[in-house]
Amino acid sequence: MEANDPVVAAARALEAGELVAFPTETVYGLGADAENPDAVARIYAAKGRPQNHPVIVHLAPGADPGYWADDIPPEARQLMHAFWPGPLTLILRRASRIPAAVSGGQDTIGLRCPAHPVAQALLRAFRQGSGGVAAPSANRFGHVSPTTARHVRDEFGDGPDAPVRHVLDGGQSEVGIESTILDLSRMATHGPVLLRPGRITASDIAAVIGRQPALPDAAAPRASGTLESHYAPAAPVALLPAETVAEVVRRLAAAGKRSALIRRTVAAGQAPAEFAIAMDAQGYAHDLYAALRAMDAVHADIILVEAPPADEAWQGVNDRLRRAAHDSNGVLARLLQRQEG
Ligand code: TXA
Ligand code: MG
Repeated sequence: MEANDPVVAAARALEAGELVAFPTETVYGLGADAENPDAVARIYAAKGRPQNHPVIVHLAPGADPGYWADDIPPEARQLMHAFWPGPLTLILRRASRIPAAVSGGQDTIGLRCPAHPVAQALLRAFRQGSGGVAAPSANRFGHVSPTTARHVRDEFGDGPDAPVRHVLDGGQSEVGIESTILDLSRMATHGPVLLRPGRITASDIAAVIGRQPALPDAAAPRASGTLESHYAPAAPVALLPAETVAEVVRRLAAAGKRSALIRRTVAAGQAPAEFAIAMDAQGYAHDLYAALRAMDAVHADIILVEAPPADEAWQGVNDRLRRAAHDSNGVLARLLQRQEG
C-alpha cells in the first residue's frame, strides 16, 4: 500500500489517537482506537454525546472476538458465522483488559465486523488488523445518521479546525439504517434480547440459533440508539396513513403552512417538496436518512411521511421513523388547528 493512500493515512491517524470517519454498509461511523480512552473521549466531545453511552467496537474480518469479550456463548459464535461481516452487533461480556470507556462504564461490549470494503481495509491497516475501532454513527447526538461522506462533512464541517479531519469516502451506505443489536450478555438469565431492529430481523436470528429474541426489558444494557427521540431532523416529522396524505397536505396549504412529503405509494405533485422513496423495505431503508436530510433542507414547517407497512421486514424502518417523529407529537394537530380553530 502507498504511504499516500488515504486509508493508510487514516489508520496512522487512528493509531495516533485521532478521529476518522469511515463508511460502513449501514451508516458512516466516527472511529477512534477502542483501547485508547483519550481517543474514545474525543468521539463523545465531537458528537456532543453523554459519556455514559457505550459505543460499538468494529473488528477486522478474522479478528479474535475472545480478545474483547469473555464467556462468549455458542449462539454468538453461530451468529458471527452466519452474519459477519455484516450489519449485526452483538453485546457480550467485556473482557477485563478492555477499558471501560468504550462501554460507557458498563461490563458489556458491543462488537461488529462491518462488510464495507473501505471499513475492512481501514481495520486491516489499523495495527495490522489486531486493533478495534470504536465507532458510533458519525453524526451529532440525536441527529439523523450519515449515509454519505457529504453528510458527515455537513455534520462536523470540513474546515481546518473541524473536529474530524479524516473522512474516508466509500459512496452511499448500502443498508442505510444502523446495525441490528442483539444482547447476548445475559444468556443464562434473559436469553437473547433484540435491543435495536435492523436489516437482520428477529426471524433471521431465530433461524440460526433456534430461538426468538425477546424485546428489551428495563434491565437490558442501555443503548442510546434506543432513546425515544433519536435519528431526528430539525423539522418536526409526522407519520400518516397513505389515505390521509392528500387531505392533510391540502389543509396545511390552506393554513399557510409548507409541508415536505416523503411519499411511497401516493401520487406525485401534492406537497411543495417531495421525495419519492422506494416501495420495498430494503430500498426504503437505503434512502431513508438521505430523504429526511433532503426534506429537512427545504425548511418546511413539517415533514410528512407516508407510513410504510407494519410487517417484520419493515421493523427497522418503522423503528427509525417512530423515533424521528417522537418529539413532534401534536405538532401537526397544532399547525392545522391554528387556522381552523
Ligand atoms: O450500524 C451501526 O451500528 C453503526 C455503524 C457505524 O457501525 N453504528 C452505530 O453506532 O449505530 P451508535 O453509537 O450510533 O449506536 C450504537 C448503539 C448505541 O445505541 C449504543 O448504546 C449501543 O449500540 N451499544 C454499544 N455498545 C453497547 C453495550 N456494551 N451495551 C449496550 N449497548 C451498546
Ligand atoms: Mg447513532
